[in-house]
Amino acid sequence: MRRPIVVGNWKMHGSRAENARLIEELGGHYPRNPAADCVICPPLVYVQEIGRLLRDTPIRLGAQDVCADTHGAFTGEVSAAMLKDVGCEYTIVGHSERRLLYRESDQLVARKFAAAHSKGLIPILCVGEQLSERDSGRTAEVVSRQLDAVLELCGVETLGQSVVAYEPVWAIGTGRTATPEQAQEVHAAIRARIGARDAKIAGATRILYGGSVKASNAAELFSMADVDGGLIGGASLKADEFLAILKAAG
Ligand code: 13P
Repeated sequence: MRRPIVVGNWKMHGSRAENARLIEELGGHYPRNPAADCVICPPLVYVQEIGRLLRDTPIRLGAQDVCADTHGAFTGEVSAAMLKDVGCEYTIVGHSERRLLYRESDQLVARKFAAAHSKGLIPILCVGEQLSERDSGRTAEVVSRQLDAVLELCGVETLGQSVVAYEPVWAIGTGRTATPEQAQEVHAAIRARIGARDAKIAGATRILYGGSVKASNAAELFSMADVDGGLIGGASLKADEFLAILKAAG
């Protein structure tokens, strides 16, 4: 049985005052024994402070990205060991905004995944196709390629200790969600791809859906057999929405 997990990706939003308010609202209404894991990934500059604010809650801390290298002359970068040092347990790697806006290749994402895993962080590997790729029937090919880069560099055992997030690029921040059936189809394909290497690991790997998840569509998406929770952008910035999504996952 896979335990559901909901991850809030705050992207580049918030301020110290707004963050404190949001965490207070979340913490005040958060169930003591939640039926789903919950992770928040704030902007890096706030990670440590959010970690302190989350101390008495079951909500875990994550980062939005990590450097592929371990240390040295990499101006502006932050290593997996540093994230771990300030209390992160998870980090997103390969978000489509990083792949597209910062030209991160499948190989770089795989190296980031390896760096995170080697320091004991749980990588949340994002995969997903662009609209033109879906329209030309290439969804499975694109997602498999993104997944294979990690499988080849890190091995299937490592993937089994991580989280995968399917985020169709055309559904991110657009209000246009994949239908539960569209999500399920790709999630099943991802699980089968992992299963071709190791069926047991495939059965245990948590695969999240991301892309315009809201309180109003979460339950339907999470009811699909291979959807184990969500990676939430915009709706993770509103306490009532995020709490309702968490409830739907549980
Ligand atoms: P939205 O929920 O705002 O569409 O963002 C999804 C996402 O990119 C989460 O990583």
